[in-house]
Amino acid sequence: MARIVAGLCTSHVPLLGRIIDSDRTGEPYWQPIFKGYEPTKKWLGEVKPDVMIVVYNDHANGFTFQYTPTFAIGCAEEFNPADEGHGPRPVPVVKGHARLAWHMTESLVLDGFDMTIMNEMDVDHGLTVPLSLVCGKVGAWPFRVIPVCVNVIQYPQPTAARCFALGKAIRKAVESFDEDLKVVIAGTGGMSHQIHGERSGLINKEFDNAFLDRLTTSPAELTKITHAEYVREAGAEGMEIIMWLTMRGALDDDVDLVHRFYHVPAMNTAVGNLVLENRRSA
Ligand code: DHB
Ligand code: FE
Repeated sequence: MARIVAGLCTSHVPLLGRIIDSDRTGEPYWQPIFKGYEPTKKWLGEVKPDVMIVVYNDHANGFTFQYTPTFAIGCAEEFNPADEGHGPRPVPVVKGHARLAWHMTESLVLDGFDMTIMNEMDVDHGLTVPLSLVCGKVGAWPFRVIPVCVNVIQYPQPTAARCFALGKAIRKAVESFDEDLKVVIAGTGGMSHQIHGERSGLINKEFDNAFLDRLTTSPAELTKITHAEYVREAGAEGMEIIMWLTMRGALDDDVDLVHRFYHVPAMNTAVGNLVLENRRSA
């Protein structure tokens, strides 16, 4: 049986990918951020998952505004890094796990989550920057990846509660797969930031830290927060953190905190990272 042993969530600030790609992580401004990810990198190197399910949002790079699936799943054998305007990032191709992805699709659809099936898709910084943050600069990603995309960029987005429920359905799907696979689930995006308009540069440390507390110990409370409240407190783009609830929904109610990191600012953005482990996997 496949099982989800742990979850992690992280911001996916595109500039951090650029800093890794250009070997500038040791510069004084950036070094504290990358140092904050070291425990996660070490932990992941020890856990050695077979598959990482990455719940993230596309930013009109892999998809265009011609179509915006609310929930989509990557069922392909591989996914190329998207060209976001400066050419694709120089990172490895992302290898999928088609058999598990198709199994998940069937289970999720039968459970009422009408996933859009992606047989071909490029993956943008929402997926590749987190991989770089937790794996570093590598010649090949050390695990298979199943991309799960959530629309958080175009109104109307799914609710926080629906994202949490999706996590629970993902867990059920994984645990009914017949192959022995160690799976880690990741949620990306956030933390507080707004990169356009009058409130550009908004960062809300209090909200972010309270979110990290509650995500660890009482995530169901976070599902009651409305979109308007997320946008007001965390910024228009900060609302991406509802995807962290999908990661959290796929874990046990009581989890062990492995690592927590929060840093402001990364230019105009807050950066957060949390690693949580299921106790019964220990
Ligand atoms: C930026 C873009 C993002 O998608 C994000 O989540 C954070 C920051 C940016 O362009 O700075
Ligand atoms: Fe984003």
